[in-house]
Amino acid sequence: MAEKIIKVPILDMLEKHRNKKSISMHVPGHKNGVVLPIEAPRSFSSVLSWDVTELAGLDDLHEPEEGIKEAEALLAKFYQTKKSYFLVNGTTVGNLAMILASIEPGDKVLVQRNCHKSVMNGLKLAKANPIFLTPVIESDISIGVPYETIYNSLNDHLDVKAIILTYPNYYGLGVDLASIIKRAHKKGILVLVDEAHGAHFAAGAPFPPSAVNLGADIVVHSAHKTLPAMTMGSYLHINSELVNQERVEGYLRMLQSSSPSYPIMMSLDLARAYLESYSEKDKEYLIEQIESFKQYLRRHEELCIFESENSDIQDPLKLVLYHKNGMSGFELQKLMEQAGIYSELTDELHVLLVLPLLKKSQPYSVDDIIQRLERINWITGEQTRISLASNPLKNKQQHMESVLAISYEEMDIMPRKRISLAHACGEISAETIVPYPPGIPLIQKGEIITYDMVQKCTSLLTQGAKIQGGVYLKQQQIEVFV
Ligand SMILES: Cc1ncc(COP(=O)(O)O)c(C=O)c1O
Repeated sequence: MAEKIIKVPILDMLEKHRNKKSISMHVPGHKNGVVLPIEAPRSFSSVLSWDVTELAGLDDLHEPEEGIKEAEALLAKFYQTKKSYFLVNGTTVGNLAMILASIEPGDKVLVQRNCHKSVMNGLKLAKANPIFLTPVIESDISIGVPYETIYNSLNDHLDVKAIILTYPNYYGLGVDLASIIKRAHKKGILVLVDEAHGAHFAAGAPFPPSAVNLGADIVVHSAHKTLPAMTMGSYLHINSELVNQERVEGYLRMLQSSSPSYPIMMSLDLARAYLESYSEKDKEYLIEQIESFKQYLRRHEELCIFESENSDIQDPLKLVLYHKNGMSGFELQKLMEQAGIYSELTDELHVLLVLPLLKKSQPYSVDDIIQRLERINWITGEQTRISLASNPLKNKQQHMESVLAISYEEMDIMPRKRISLAHACGEISAETIVPYPPGIPLIQKGEIITYDMVQKCTSLLTQGAKIQGGVYLKQQQIEVFV
């Protein structure tokens, strides 16, 4: 059978331009990568040679008519959407545009409590009225909001405009979205999905189903997370007639740079082409590699693979490891880094490895990872045996919903004071505290601080977790509203 020809219009367009050997009398200032300090490595100069601007024949992301239009049409065709867009400012901008285009001030929105901070920022900008839904937690990992919670909330609130969910979570886990989408659509409610970690799901089984195929109205993908795209490269897909396309486009124009990066756009085009050419044979090879790595891990004396009992899906590209005898995730990560293995994320218990969407021809070896793991000296001087501080998102409480204690408008004008974190329980936080990665708020501005939140924050600080927000956290203090 003849091999399918996969088109890459942005690459073609840029190559055509390069072949002209033209003189750059335009921005950017590096002039096709030739005006650079001598310290700049040659490989950097060669990347910059692709970094051009909206010249004749190179189209314009904000008004696409040529190669970018064709590339976005190929993207929509591949994902089978109504309309798809390249994003040059990550899923962050996609989430902002998705929310701003769908929600009017005061609109009631059901929102998964552990959404990414870009969703929370989008809600604030849109002046939404969010009702936060508590996800199921397992081994300190938030899996997703179960159908029953959404069903009950939709019965309690008859005026919900949209539901915003993360699917899958950072760890490749999640709930069955199909029934949630069906229920929401029965009531004419929009389902907006941050599928940052699932751009590759469109490759089909054994990957979980994509929210696009399940019928979510808008879906945003961080192509740069699991596809071979450059950092900041994402896709936004409009997938139904319920979405106001003009508004989405208006916000994308407003929120994205007027000088979008051509290397990022080219990488987005190439990433789609890569996925489009990802064959059943490639999948077989990938799964074989993953299985051989897992078999090694199953025999390992120190490491265990975390397998969720509550998740309805499992992305094969995500491997979550923990230490058999309770070494903290942070310590585990340090040991692995000493062996030259850099993981994606760590929490108190786990280390998350993101595996590549591998094809046979690529120089990425599981054996190399295994050899490096073998070199690790697991006997360290001081091992913290981790006893988990309870997670504030844990659904042990009766209430599966929570709301902000004050409105976004009040947050802008209310006075604040700094107090000790230990005494913050019951106060309204004036800061959003976000462990990063994963970038999911632990405490949100405007939310009542609970005992569990204080415990969790203190525990993360003690273990040296990276935390964004919380200017005085290192001094064990937090700002609250008065
Ligand atoms: C669930 C989720 N949504 C959105 C984002 C933001 O994506 P990006 O880095 O593409 O802006 C992240 C980043 O980690 C994420 O984990």
